[in-house]
This record gives sequence, C-alpha cells and structure tokens, in this order.
Amino acid sequence: MTTSEDILGRIWQSLHEATTQGTGFTLSFLGTIGLEGQPRMRAVILRQFHQAQQQLCFATNIHSAKIPEIRRHPQVALTSYDAGSSIQLRMEGHADIVKDRVCRQRAWRSLAAHSQELYASTNIPGTPLQDDDAGRNSDLASSFARFAWVSVKLEWLDWLDLSDNQRWQFKRRGDQWHGGDVVP
Ligand SMILES: Cc1cc2nc3c(=O)[nH]c(=O)nc-3n(C[C@H](O)[C@H](O)[C@H](O)COP(=O)(O)O)c2cc1C
Repeated sequence: MTTSEDILGRIWQSLHEATTQGTGFTLSFLGTIGLEGQPRMRAVILRQFHQAQQQLCFATNIHSAKIPEIRRHPQVALTSYDAGSSIQLRMEGHADIVKDRVCRQRAWRSLAAHSQELYASTNIPGTPLQDDDAGRNSDLASSFARFAWVSVKLEWLDWLDLSDNQRWQFKRRGDQWHGGDVVP
C-alpha cells in the first residue's frame, strides 16, 4: 500500500531530479497575483531544490513584471507536468527575492554562459522594442545586477498521477507535512 511518506519521498526525488538533470518537471508554470489583482502565469525553469529548507529556486530578470508582483503578493503557485510519467505536481508557497549577495553570486555562477547572456540586455523586459534596440543596449559586465534569484518556500503540494488516477495533497505545518490521498 502506498503511504504519504512514499509520495512525499517521490516528490522530493522528482524535484531533485528536475533541478539537477532536467526532467518533465524542470519547466514549471509560475502563477502570481498581478498588480491589479489579476492572475498571471508564465513558464520558468526550476533551477535548485533545497529539501532541508523546502525551497525551490528560479532565476529571473530583476526588471521583469513578476518581481513587483512577488514583492506585493509573495504567495505564488507553481505547476509542472511530466508527460513521461503522466504526473502533475502543483505547488504553492511563499516567494522571496534573495538579497544575500553571496547566495546570488553562487546561483549566478551555476548558470550556463548562454543563460547568463540573457541578462546582458539593459532593456526592460516587456517594454516596447525600439527600432534601434536590436543588438544594442547590451552590457555583459553589468548582467549580474539584473539577475534575480527567487526562492519559494513550499507550503502546499498536490500530486496527481494520471497513470493510476491517484491524487495526494499535503500541507506543511512547521517542518511537518500533513496530508494523504484525495478524490482525483
Ligand atoms: C521554456 C521557457 C523557459 C523559461 N524560463 C524562464 C525562467 O527560468 N525565468 C524567467 O524569468 N522567465 C522564463 N521564461 C520566460 C517567461 O515565461 C516570461 O515570458 C518572462 O519571464 C516574463 O514574464 P513576466 O513579464 O510575467 O515577468 C521562460 C519561457 C519559456 C518558454
């Protein structure tokens, strides 16, 4: 018989693999509350998982719209789907924009060169592209200043396994997760 501990173990293992080797769960969809109260979703790559702290981390541009949204409403949601195993993992938690420079530098160094290059543009994401922007306004040296490292402390989990139509939900209280199987 499958137990809550079995499923929680599978969740931690899945998040570990998603952030170390690339799996279906690596690409997640982040939900925030927009500045006008509207729901907002976008894809993000899950970069690190710290099981002891129950934290997931992703990278983003400090000037992107999600940053002020997270500052105003730190409660966020993430959903990943692994088509190979037919499992959807939904997560909710409290997001923090990491301020600690050493921690940011460590995360920055863990990015591949082509990922760091995404931060070279001094243009503000989501603003109208100017005719003369292409190939200009690029400054690799100051890229780190535009790099934001966001951690999400997990608080709620929903594991839906479509291969055997099982669904489990968990809520964290302190260091303990509580929950069990629910009607799918
Ligand atoms: C496959 C894929 C991976 C992406 N990964 C990230 C990511 O890790 N971080 C990020 O900020 N945006 C990522 N994006 C872009 C976002 O989905 C989004 O377009 C961008 O961050 C702007 O969102 P915002 O205006 O809501 O801040 C990714 C997009 C795709 C299609």
